[in-house]
Amino acid sequence: MSQHHQDVQKITVQTLKTMKAAGQPIASLTAYDAAFARVLDAAGCDFILVGDSLGMVVQGQATTIPVTVDDIIYHTRLVARGTQRALLMADMPFMSYSSATDCLRNAARLMKEGGAEIVKLEWGELQLDMVYRLTECGIPVCAHLGLTPQAILKMGSYRVQGREQATAQKMIEDARALEEAGADVLLLECVPMELAKEITQHAKVPVIGIGAGPDVDGQILVLYDVLDIAPGKRTRFSRNYIEHTGSIHKAVAQYVADVRERRFPTPEYAFT
Ligand code: KIV
Repeated sequence: MSQHHQDVQKITVQTLKTMKAAGQPIASLTAYDAAFARVLDAAGCDFILVGDSLGMVVQGQATTIPVTVDDIIYHTRLVARGTQRALLMADMPFMSYSSATDCLRNAARLMKEGGAEIVKLEWGELQLDMVYRLTECGIPVCAHLGLTPQAILKMGSYRVQGREQATAQKMIEDARALEEAGADVLLLECVPMELAKEITQHAKVPVIGIGAGPDVDGQILVLYDVLDIAPGKRTRFSRNYIEHTGSIHKAVAQYVADVRERRFPTPEYAFT
C-alpha cells in the first residue's frame, strides 16, 4: 500500500483563499480516524475537520462539552496519518481557549502533537483577542459563528441563529471583526441563507457553511450524518448520501461532486 505520493498538491489556507477568489466551491467533511481520512482525501475533500462532534458521534456523549484537548490530539494524529492532500483542521474543545495562555498552549499542542494545520474555535466575545494572538504566532485560525454547540447549556437547544435583525447585524459585525483580527476562515453553522450570503459577500476570507445555505464559499458536514450512522435524529441541514449510493466511497465522492457543482445544499437543507 502506497503511503506517500510526491505529486500530491497539498492544500493550504492560501489555497482556500485562492478558491474563494476563483469562485471554486470548497468541499469538506469531518473525520476522526485514518481509514475515513483516506477516503475523504482520495475523494478530494479540500479540508478535513477533526471536530469536537467526535464527542457525540464517536464517544457517544450527549454534547461536545466533555471532549478534551487530548481527545482531539489523539484523533487528529490518526486523521493526519490518512491525509496527504487535504488541509487538516482541528477543533479547540470547550474551555481550552478561555485564557490567552491556555489558548496558545493548546493550539500549539494540536499542531505539534496532533499535526493540525489550522485550529478552529467557537465565537464568543473573548475570542477576538484569541484569534489575534494565534495570528500573531503564525497559527492559522477558523472562527465558528452562528450556532456554537459548546454553548448548548447556555442556549438550551440547537436552533438557527441570526433570524432577528439585531442578532443578524451583530453576526455581520462579529464576522468582520474576526477577519480583521486575523481569522483565515469563517465557519457559519445554522444561519439563515440570506445572512450567510451577506457575510460571504463582504468577507475576503473563505466562508464555510453547515446549515447556512448555498451562497457561501464552501460546505462542511459531519461525516457520520452523510453516512447515516450518527446517533439520534439527523439534522435538517445534513444529507444522507449513503442511501442512494450504497457505499462509503461513493457517498463521499457524490457529496464532494455535489458541493463542487453547487447541487448541495438545495433550499430544503437551508434555513430562511
Ligand atoms: O465539531 C464539528 O464537527 C463541527 C462541525 C459541525 C462544523 O464543528
